[in-house]
Amino acid sequence: MRDQWVLDRKTAFLNHGSFGATPRRVLDRQSALRQQLETEPVRFFLREGPALWRAALDRVADFLGAPTDELAFVRNASEGANAVLRSLPLEAGDEILVSDHGYPAVTRAAEYVADRAGASVRTVTLPFPPEAPEAVTASFLAAVTPRTRLVIVDHVTSPTGMVLPVASLVATLRERGVDTLVDGAHAPGMLDLDLGAVGAAYYVGNFHKWVCAPKGAGFLHVRADRQDGIAPPVVSHGWRRDLSPGERFRAAFDWTGTADPTAALCVPTALDTVAELGGGWTAIRERNRELTLEGRRLIAEALGVEPRIPESMIGTLASLPLPPGSGPGPAHGLDLDPLQARLQDVHDVVVPVFPWPRWPERRIRTSAHLHTERRDFERLAAALRAELA
Ligand SMILES: Cc1ncc(COP(=O)(O)O)c(C=O)c1O
Repeated sequence: MRDQWVLDRKTAFLNHGSFGATPRRVLDRQSALRQQLETEPVRFFLREGPALWRAALDRVADFLGAPTDELAFVRNASEGANAVLRSLPLEAGDEILVSDHGYPAVTRAAEYVADRAGASVRTVTLPFPPEAPEAVTASFLAAVTPRTRLVIVDHVTSPTGMVLPVASLVATLRERGVDTLVDGAHAPGMLDLDLGAVGAAYYVGNFHKWVCAPKGAGFLHVRADRQDGIAPPVVSHGWRRDLSPGERFRAAFDWTGTADPTAALCVPTALDTVAELGGGWTAIRERNRELTLEGRRLIAEALGVEPRIPESMIGTLASLPLPPGSGPGPAHGLDLDPLQARLQDVHDVVVPVFPWPRWPERRIRTSAHLHTERRDFERLAAALRAELA
């Protein structure tokens, strides 16, 4: 299976979560599309491309359980979240709620728009580890005030790898008149995602993580009743005053200036290729989840800790606490923890280490996809024993 990916053979690759990894066959399709584009760029951008784009959108609509007209391709979840946040008419005194498990880059975007408007971003501390998913919903609800304009919640949390109960949270918040932006960067391909059932006003996700599309394939879902005024971060030809809000949403996101569209155009191939390699998406999700849980047990044993997050809240990411770090700690969300660097440089094990909830407390996060095997976790367990002895 590993040979289906171009991943470096010598590494134990346990960080599918950060940037995904793309099978050879999908990369070949991307090369072919780029060749087609460069053979006659004008024909591609004005005639062939739009039909391929629409077909890819229809296919992802089917995969995600949402009408095509509520979906747009964006380069990544960050871009989708920025589109929503920068479009909201925030006023001074309004507030956005985020959680202490939220993805820092999305929280930064919320702070950016809040600062501009004189609004605020408040962080909800979730019970950790939660005894049951309902405790998460209760924490958000307790934090809502009459000034809450938006709740941002991760479907699968990045630093802790927990699957949160977003459908019930969205429904409860909706009863209180509060909109939700679900950050589902990790959800497509990891979870049996049904955007219609989630019902959020806004949902963003990535195909370059668990669907294994090339980098730069994300999506934004905006419920039909919330599309008015939602603009992409780059406004171009499609932002036409004469169109209805729905038509404008479609047109504005379908053209945001000249760029390489092949990552998005490869999503159907990624969906087919991975499904074929793993015997269908249901089987893939089950296999990867079982391996994630088995790997978590192995690593917990090596670290001498208990995996305390309930299994019912685990998908294909798992995180465990590490002994505290020493020194000044990473200054920035993209900085490497020294242990992460050593695991890679000395042991050829690729796995992320995050400061969480704040330095010097740290967590290690493993993941499993079809290219992952039990022996990758065994190599990590041995490396951790050596490093932390
Ligand atoms: C929860 C979450 N949100 C957003 C992102 C950002 O994804 P991207 O960099 O593709 O925009 C990530 C990336 O790991 C994530 O884990």
